Amino acid sequence: MSSLPAEVYWERRARRFAGEGAGLRAVCSYGMPEFYNRAIEWSQRLALRRWLRVEPGTRALDLGCGIGRWSRALATRGARVTGVDLSAFMVAEAERRTAGARLESRCRFEVGDLATLDLGETYDFALGVTVLQHILDGERVRTALERIRSHLAVDGKLVLLEAAPTRRVSRCDSDIFTARTLEDYRALWSVAGFDLVALGGVDPMPLKVQFLPYYRRLPRALSKTILALLTLGSLPVDALLGRRLVAPSWHKVIVLEPRGEK
Ligand SMILES: C[S@@+](CC[C@H](N)C(=O)[O-])C[C@H]1O[C@@H](n2cnc3c(N)ncnc32)[C@H](O)[C@@H]1O
Repeated sequence: MSSLPAEVYWERRARRFAGEGAGLRAVCSYGMPEFYNRAIEWSQRLALRRWLRVEPGTRALDLGCGIGRWSRALATRGARVTGVDLSAFMVAEAERRTAGARLESRCRFEVGDLATLDLGETYDFALGVTVLQHILDGERVRTALERIRSHLAVDGKLVLLEAAPTRRVSRCDSDIFTARTLEDYRALWSVAGFDLVALGGVDPMPLKVQFLPYYRRLPRALSKTILALLTLGSLPVDALLGRRLVAPSWHKVIVLEPRGEK
C-alpha cells in the first residue's frame, strides 16, 4: 500500500478524491466502487443516528474530520463544531463543502494531529469516525485519546466508530490501517481515563469484508458483480440488526465518558 508518512498519504488521497462527487472515496474505501462507499456511509449513518442528535449550541469536536461529513451533520442540528484533520487539503475541502451547505457560521476547521491536539477549549461532544484505526502506533493512539479527554467537559462524551473486531483479524492490516480488537481499544481508553457507557454494532454481516482481499485478484467485472451482490445481501442485515449484533460487527460504535467526579 504505502510506506509514506501518514500526513503525506492522507494529503495525496485527499488531492485525488476529496473534491470528487460526495467525496466518499477520500474518507471511506478508496479505489472501491461508488455503490460500496455509499453502502458504508449508509450503515455508518444508521449506527451513529442516535448519537448525532445533539442539542442546539452543543460544542462539538469532529476528530479526523476529513471532508466534514459529520461536522455538517452536527451543525445541521445546531451544534458549534470544530473539525480537525491531519490533511490541509481535506480541511480546505471541508471548508468548501460547509460553505456550500451554508453552515460555515457554525463550523471551523483546523489542520492538526490528534496526538498533539491543543485547541485551548473544551467540548461537550467529540466524534471520531474511522480515524484511530489509521494511527498505527499504539503509543500515539493512547496519547491521542489522552489529548481528546483533556478537551472534553466533565460531562462530555466521546463517540468513536472504528474497525474493532471482537477477535483478531490481521488480513486487512496495511501501512495505513490496523484492525485493533475491541479488547485492544478497551485497554487504550481505560489507560487514557475513559469509561465505556455504550457499545453498538454497525456491520455484522461479514461477507463484504471477507471478500475484500480477493477483490483485486479476480477479473474486474466479476469482482464488481460479486461485491455488488454481497453488498446488497448485507444491507438488510446491517439495517435491521446492525446496532444490536455487536460481537460479529466488524466496526463498532464505542461511547465513552471521562472517568472522574461528575
Ligand atoms: C477514513 S478518513 C475518515 C474521515 C471522516 N472522519 C469521515 O468519516 O468522513 C480518516 C481521516 O483521518 C485523518 N487522520 C488520520 N490520522 C490523523 C491524525 N493523527 N490526526 C488527525 N487526523 C488524522 C485523515 O487525514 C482522514 O481525513
